[in-house]
Amino acid sequence: MENKTAKCPDFPTDLEYQSGFGNSLSSEAIAGALPQGQNNPLICPYGLYAEQISGTSFTAPRKLNLRSWLYRIKPSVTHEPFKPRVPGHGKLVSEFNQSNTTATPTQLRWKPVEIPDAPTDFIDGLYTVCGAGSSFLRHGYAIHMYTANKSMDDCAFCNADGDFLIVPQKGRLWITTECGRLQVSPGEVVVLPQGFRFAINLPDGPSRGYVAEIFGTHFQLPDLGPIGANGLAAPRDFLVPTAWFEQSSCPGYTVVQKFGGELFIARQDFCPFNVVAWHGNYVPYKYDLSKFCPYNTVLVDHGDPSINTVLTAPTDKPGVALLDFVIFPPRWLVAEHTFRPPYYHRNCMSEFMGLINGGYEAKADGFLPGGASLHSCMTPHGPDTKTYEATIALGNEAGPHRITDTMAFMFESCLMPRICPWALESPFMDPDYYQCWIGLRSHFTGEETKGQSRDLHNGHN
Ligand SMILES: [Fe+2]
Repeated sequence: MENKTAKCPDFPTDLEYQSGFGNSLSSEAIAGALPQGQNNPLICPYGLYAEQISGTSFTAPRKLNLRSWLYRIKPSVTHEPFKPRVPGHGKLVSEFNQSNTTATPTQLRWKPVEIPDAPTDFIDGLYTVCGAGSSFLRHGYAIHMYTANKSMDDCAFCNADGDFLIVPQKGRLWITTECGRLQVSPGEVVVLPQGFRFAINLPDGPSRGYVAEIFGTHFQLPDLGPIGANGLAAPRDFLVPTAWFEQSSCPGYTVVQKFGGELFIARQDFCPFNVVAWHGNYVPYKYDLSKFCPYNTVLVDHGDPSINTVLTAPTDKPGVALLDFVIFPPRWLVAEHTFRPPYYHRNCMSEFMGLINGGYEAKADGFLPGGASLHSCMTPHGPDTKTYEATIALGNEAGPHRITDTMAFMFESCLMPRICPWALESPFMDPDYYQCWIGLRSHFTGEETKGQSRDLHNGHN
């Protein structure tokens, strides 16, 4: 509990979390603050207000139903009318169409965007790169990036459009939410569900990262199929905050609401982080990517990247994701008779990639931490020339190899993205990206190559 100042003080190094993906959790910052036996008593303990936040329709099937009950000092409705923020933002898009974005099948790549010198907080540092669909129609997604250097002062952000999955690449995030506080470091990710109010402080100053926003659905853990009951991201490694509240008056406090991609502000005289107790299953959560348990081929060929799915936001079609969050973590490569880097391919899904640290196995040059690439629906892509030549030069004698010092990721969607003009015109756009494949030469000789493919008859005669 902190009641001295409206500005969030330093986060403790020993922040406590609850554990478990999709669990029904409860937390109280003052013992006895959580009503027992009912959600909405006539008078709540300590005179708190009861308030529900629904992340799914009331009548969503139970296995998908998400909602939490918050017990707070004042209800969140206690504010002056919403007004458009002046100045507006201008680089946030939640409905992608021909008037605001461009379609292109070209392979796109961006160098790491420089972090501005001018004071910039998370809200102003956030900008949409690409996306599809519409937050109004509750189907689609947006991919954003942020570059920022200062904490949010006396304001909270609330995204009415969708859930944010934030992937910090540089600089920790100290995130205060209505459910409590989360410290999220590069190498971790955090999900801030639609509608929750949050404030982001940047204890390390200059910060950069990626954000996937999904409209009309929420992230789930992927089914594991024949893998079995364990593996990939374990439910217990998802961490949820514990209740924490701020009770001082905060004259001039501002809630900034993103609604249809536009920003609105509402003034109130208190901090929205005034929830003394809560329970439910609609919560912010974080996950440490180093805890991921990767699976891989142990004999031949290259597994499809879906094997590394951390979280998936489904559509109504089985196996078709609105947005998959997939990682490429440190791991062993052991396949025999196999071109081990990602295969060349064209995909009906569209793939946005980022790099948190280190290098990426399919690109010897040019794909840098903090950079990004986009390979849209049916656009060919794969390892660059240098990677291809280096891989085949190793031949079949390449032994087990551990990929270290890397954490790349992909946002993959069934919807075709449109690109924002500031992303296409960015000085960080790499106009020479195509050059990385142009040097791929023909190795075709017209003569049979010996000993290069797997001998399936060995031991079977
Ligand atoms: Fe791909």
